[in-house]
Amino acid sequence: MNLILLGPPGAGKGTQAKILTKKYDIPQISTGDILRNAVKQATPMGLKAKAFMDAGALVPDEVVVGIVSERIVEADCRNGFILDGFPRTVSQADALSAMLAANGNKIDHVISITVNKNDLLRRITGRRTCRSCGKGYHLEFDPPKTAGVCDECSGVLFQREDDCEDTMRKRLDVYEQQTAPLVEYYSNAGLLRSLPGDEAIDVIQSMIVSILKRDA
Ligand code: AP5
Repeated sequence: MNLILLGPPGAGKGTQAKILTKKYDIPQISTGDILRNAVKQATPMGLKAKAFMDAGALVPDEVVVGIVSERIVEADCRNGFILDGFPRTVSQADALSAMLAANGNKIDHVISITVNKNDLLRRITGRRTCRSCGKGYHLEFDPPKTAGVCDECSGVLFQREDDCEDTMRKRLDVYEQQTAPLVEYYSNAGLLRSLPGDEAIDVIQSMIVSILKRDA
């Protein structure tokens, strides 16, 4: 099963992808996570991406298309994958279709998660992530048992640099201008299912699983 989770920053793509990955035993491919890791390791790609990410802008298409084309042919993707944060432009979506078609493969489902702007801002500014295992939290909606400490591995929780309010507003604008057109793109392809992302995490998870069962 090849699934795309589409939605603005803070819609809950990463949160849902992490749960789905365990349920369906297929990997989450988050271009944001891969880029943040490259920045941390100071690789040439990371050095190139950092300025774009810090500004809340998109990293150039050729960089992210290159990342995904190499990742989806890895062994753990043979039964499918969950794309979280990719594609983000029509050009990325076209490149994805072409790279899958070259291997006789295709996208099976695109799920778009919608959330109003005020809730997105609240979610993003309250988000915290474990520096060791990557588990995500929210100070208000999904807090750790002990402030600042991961429930699962006792790692230190941190706030992403691009999660400040100014950069978040820029990221939302970029989503509207460059990524939202993908809703129509995948709707025209007959692949899009939309769901309201302002429900609780487990409710949204059940809605996604129902869609995947119904459209299987
Ligand atoms: P990326 O890391 O992909 O960020 P994003 O798309 O902006 O998405 P987020 O990770 O912010 O949100 P999410 O939807 O995953 O929400 P989450 O589940 O964490 O990209 C970062 C940057 O990398 C980009 O700005 C760009 O520069 C670059 N980049 C990445 N991919 C690229 C591409 N393809 N092309 C070009 N550039 C690219 O949830 C957020 C918070 O809300 C959490 O705290 C969570 O606990 C909470 N929450 C989740 N669901 C709920 C719920 N139902 N109720 C209450 N709280 C909830």
